[in-house]
Amino acid sequence: MKNYAIGVFDSGMGGLTAVKELNTLLPNEDIIYFGDTARVPYGSRSRETVLKYAQQDVEFLKKHKIKMIIAACGTVSSVVGTSSLAGDLPFTGVIHPAVQAACAATRNNRIGVIGTPATIKSGYYAKAIKSVNPHVKVIGSACPLFVHLVENGYIQRDNQITILAAKEYLEPVIRENVDTLILGCTHYPVIRDIIADIAGPDVTLISSGAEAAKYAYNSLIEKNLLSDREEKGKNTFYVSDSVSLFEENAGNFLGHPVNGDVFSCSLGD
Ligand code: DGL
Repeated sequence: MKNYAIGVFDSGMGGLTAVKELNTLLPNEDIIYFGDTARVPYGSRSRETVLKYAQQDVEFLKKHKIKMIIAACGTVSSVVGTSSLAGDLPFTGVIHPAVQAACAATRNNRIGVIGTPATIKSGYYAKAIKSVNPHVKVIGSACPLFVHLVENGYIQRDNQITILAAKEYLEPVIRENVDTLILGCTHYPVIRDIIADIAGPDVTLISSGAEAAKYAYNSLIEKNLLSDREEKGKNTFYVSDSVSLFEENAGNFLGHPVNGDVFSCSLGD
C-alpha cells in the first residue's frame, strides 16, 4: 500500500495548487488527480449537489490504487466538514490544515477568509477557526468571479478586470485590519500576486491547497505510508472535459507545463 498513489480531486484545476506542493514535498509519490472540469464551478451550487459530485469524485479515485484522498477544493471541504468521504482511507479536506496555519500566523487575532459563495455561506471556516482559538475575529468575503477569471486565464498581475474584482472582494476584509488572509479556494494562489498587492505586505497569505499538501505529508509519515521507491513518482491526471483545454491552462496552476499523462473520463450525470 505504501507505493499506492495519493488521490487528489477538485471541481476543476484549482487542486493542482496542492499537486504542485505535493510534487515538491514528496517527489517519489505517485499522484492521481481528478478535475471535474465539465462541472466546474461547484461553488455556486447547492450543498446537496456539491456533496453528490464530491461522492462521485471519490468513487472515481477509489477505482485506482490509492492510499489517501485529498479533497483539494474549499467548496467540497466546507460541505463535508469533519466527516470523511473516503471510508477507511486517510482523507483530508483543505479547511483544517489552512486554519491551523492561519491561527499560528496571526498576531492580532484577526483573520480574513476569501472563498467561493458556498464556502463562505457554510460558515465552516469561521467555525473551525473558533474551535482552535475562540478569540479570533473572522471576516469572510465571497469572491464569485475569481474561479471563472482564473480558469479563463485572467491571471496576469496587471490584469485590470481581475484587479477590479479583487479590490471589490478584498476591501471589506482589509478594512477590518486582518493580518492573515486564508485563500480558502484552491484556485486563488494563481492570482496570489494581485491579492498580495491589494492586501499589502503586512498581511500573511495562507494557501489552503498547499497547507493540505503539508498536512498530507505529515499524515503519511505518521501512518508509515510514505512510498519507499527510489525513483521519481508520476502524476496522472483525469478530467471530465477536454484534455487539450486542461493542458492549455494547467500550467498556470502548476507553474510549469503538465508533467504527466492526461486522460478524459466521464462520471455520469
Ligand atoms: N477550487 C475550488 C474551491 O476550492 C473551486 C470551487 C468551485 O468550483 O467553485 O472551492
